[in-house]
Amino acid sequence: MDWQQWHRDYDDPGSPVSQRLAEVRTRLAVALADVPGRIRLLNLCAGDARDTVPVLAGLERQVDACAVELDPVLADRARRAAADAGVALDVRTGDAADPTTYADRLPVDVLMLIGVLGNISDADGEATVASAASMLSPGGTVIWTRSNRFRSEPTHEYADPAEWVRDRFAAHGFDEVGYVVPAEGYWRLGVARLRTPSAEPLPERLFTFVR
Ligand SMILES: C[S@@+](CC[C@H](N)C(=O)[O-])C[C@H]1O[C@@H](n2cnc3c(N)ncnc32)[C@H](O)[C@@H]1O
Repeated sequence: MDWQQWHRDYDDPGSPVSQRLAEVRTRLAVALADVPGRIRLLNLCAGDARDTVPVLAGLERQVDACAVELDPVLADRARRAAADAGVALDVRTGDAADPTTYADRLPVDVLMLIGVLGNISDADGEATVASAASMLSPGGTVIWTRSNRFRSEPTHEYADPAEWVRDRFAAHGFDEVGYVVPAEGYWRLGVARLRTPSAEPLPERLFTFVR
């Protein structure tokens, strides 16, 4: 998958991914506003971080923010966007599937999994959701997305794989705060709050992209 090419869909403000972006920014602003005191944010598979930088730029409070992106061109764009906006964002060009890439940043108050869960197997999805419960502080928030399309053979009976993800978060100790299904468009977005962090250590690898 050419992820730089994928980002070009953002050029069309009416595209599903642009509509999703607007929702992600809105939900991120709310999640950050809900954190008392110091805020720690981690965005995994952040792309060019266009869902994060403008939100941080509009905040009066300081956020300890980290974005992890494998593609060096996209990571550079994220770095430049943050610098242009005067935002402190630690952009790490690296593997978000390997928790050692950002172990020094954990735990966080807000975790972003945007455009991740639809690109990995169900087994990795389960492992990633379970890991989110080890990466967040008590009461921490995860913002996630998943399309309603299957990329590989389903391993469950759910007609919509996003519904399965929703239930996975519930099964791993999260209370749903919001769930968005657009009138048109394949994406779904969930916001969930962790009751109690998991004591399980993080696995060596969380996921492998299947495309
Ligand atoms: C669907 S895009 C989503 C980008 C961004 N979160 C957004 O919604 O605009 C998936 C991103 O994950 C990145 N990616 C894929 N595998 C990765 C990995 N192992 N570690 C970090 N980033 C990865 C890709 O380069 C791509 O930018």
